[in-house]
Amino acid sequence: MNTLISHTPIWAKLKTHQQYIAQQHLRDLFALDPKRFDKFSIEAEGFLLDYSKNYITDETVNLLLELANKVQLEESINRLFSGEKVNNTEQRAALHTALRNRSNTPIKVDGKDVMPEINKVLVKMQQFTEQVRNAEWRGYTGKPIESIVNIGIGGSDLGPAMVTKALTAYHHPRLKAYFVSNVDATHLSNTLATLDPETTLFIIASKTFTTQETLLNAHSARSWLVKHLGNEQAVAKHFVAISTAKQKVIEFGINPINMFEFWDWVGGRYSLWSAIGLPIAVMIGMDKFEELLDGAHKLDQHFKNTDLANNLPTLFALLEVWYSSFFGIKTQAVLPYDYSLELFPAYLQQLAMESLGKRVTREGRNIDYSTCPIIWGSAGNNGQHAFYQLLHQGTQLIPADFIIAIDSQNDLNGHQDAVLSNALAQAHALMMGRTANETQLEAHKLKQEDKHLEQLINQIPHRVFPGDQPSNSLVYQKLTPSILGKLIALYEHKVFVESVCWNINPFDQWGVELGKQVANMLLPALSSPMDTNINLGVDSSTLGLLKYISKN
Ligand code: F6P
Repeated sequence: MNTLISHTPIWAKLKTHQQYIAQQHLRDLFALDPKRFDKFSIEAEGFLLDYSKNYITDETVNLLLELANKVQLEESINRLFSGEKVNNTEQRAALHTALRNRSNTPIKVDGKDVMPEINKVLVKMQQFTEQVRNAEWRGYTGKPIESIVNIGIGGSDLGPAMVTKALTAYHHPRLKAYFVSNVDATHLSNTLATLDPETTLFIIASKTFTTQETLLNAHSARSWLVKHLGNEQAVAKHFVAISTAKQKVIEFGINPINMFEFWDWVGGRYSLWSAIGLPIAVMIGMDKFEELLDGAHKLDQHFKNTDLANNLPTLFALLEVWYSSFFGIKTQAVLPYDYSLELFPAYLQQLAMESLGKRVTREGRNIDYSTCPIIWGSAGNNGQHAFYQLLHQGTQLIPADFIIAIDSQNDLNGHQDAVLSNALAQAHALMMGRTANETQLEAHKLKQEDKHLEQLINQIPHRVFPGDQPSNSLVYQKLTPSILGKLIALYEHKVFVESVCWNINPFDQWGVELGKQVANMLLPALSSPMDTNINLGVDSSTLGLLKYISKN
């Protein structure tokens, strides 16, 4: 598109509409329309999405859908699914949907159907996971594997770690999973300190097999293993790799027989459906891993085939475009009221912020509207006792996603009702707030209970809640592999729809390069005594820090 979307009539209409709607309080919108919940909630694919607590009216939704049509969203969805090179800056397809294409219909990249290769790797994963789980795969000294250590970072860590944790209820009873990502030796050392080398299997997960953090951790893990088992040959029984770079895996010393392949058309943060999901499959079994894929596939079908007005990812995304580009929000909270999803906000940070944290269009033109907000959050009740104060009485507009499981993975008397009442209460309180009048009335009530009235009256400004914080509530029955697959796919497609509205490429990540380059340049200065006259071409602050650290 040559014209920036912000210079089109539909954008202007949305801007004007925003000025009108921003003057309403959300509680007024509810007072005006008792049918808001019925109107602005939908049930699909095992979810109820209630988006009524947002700054929207019928007109808003219609205008946002007009925007989606203007940017030709449906055509873009088709391009994504059909294997077109939608990652235009790297000339690659983005076919995470093919990895979970359970219908097995052919999907072509450069004229070649990718499904046979995908299925081949799935079979290899199945054989391997069964061997490990059934204790047929044994360590060098003949003992069954008990600990799986995934070494990877970014997309080669966050997705598998999040899913593995979320599906703890399905873990094999003999096996324990660990995820090592940070290059600080403490992460690996603390993990290894608890492990028995004879029963530990390392999965080295790296799309490129060049990532500094992963390779350093992998080499150190290898040294630890060889030192304890006394023979280089032990590596073959304790290390497998997941990568697109076969040669580099061989150079590391892993036999390609023990390598699980994936392809350059799988983006790192979209890769948990590929062999990168191996730790998940080992922990929960291949049948359950396939249920995860099945769930995601069903959501894919919903996204592809449902009209935009009833399309979960589309509605979700349009709301975020609304808040980011028209209300100028800077951050968005993700609040799972399902402890199993504790790592979901961290996973989502990479998914959304690495995909949408961009400032030029697909064609390289500067953008003049806000794109991705900062995504943050934590498991529901914990957040309430930490940062919700700011949501309730701070100065910023912060939309929130409440992600709510009706049933927990575990059943302890009274716990789940407490979770659910808190989730609903918070969304309600954030939206309705409490006015000065209501606070005063409460003060008088408290006075009758013999509290000190003067003190209560002085407290009123501190005890007023402005409310007016919008939120979505996404409710499901229980976190099964299938529901989790759907949930992740829902957010993936949400990100995609936003990228189409903003005309940005969500599948590259050039923004991670500069820091890596500079780190490589600085590394030699830290590895050996520093020549104080060296000209590294860095600013005086960085040079001062470097000299201080080098000296100490
Ligand atoms: O630095 C960012 C990044 O490139 C992510 O996009 C990716 O998920 C991560 O690094 C890890 O990359 P790899 O799987 O190649 O080690």
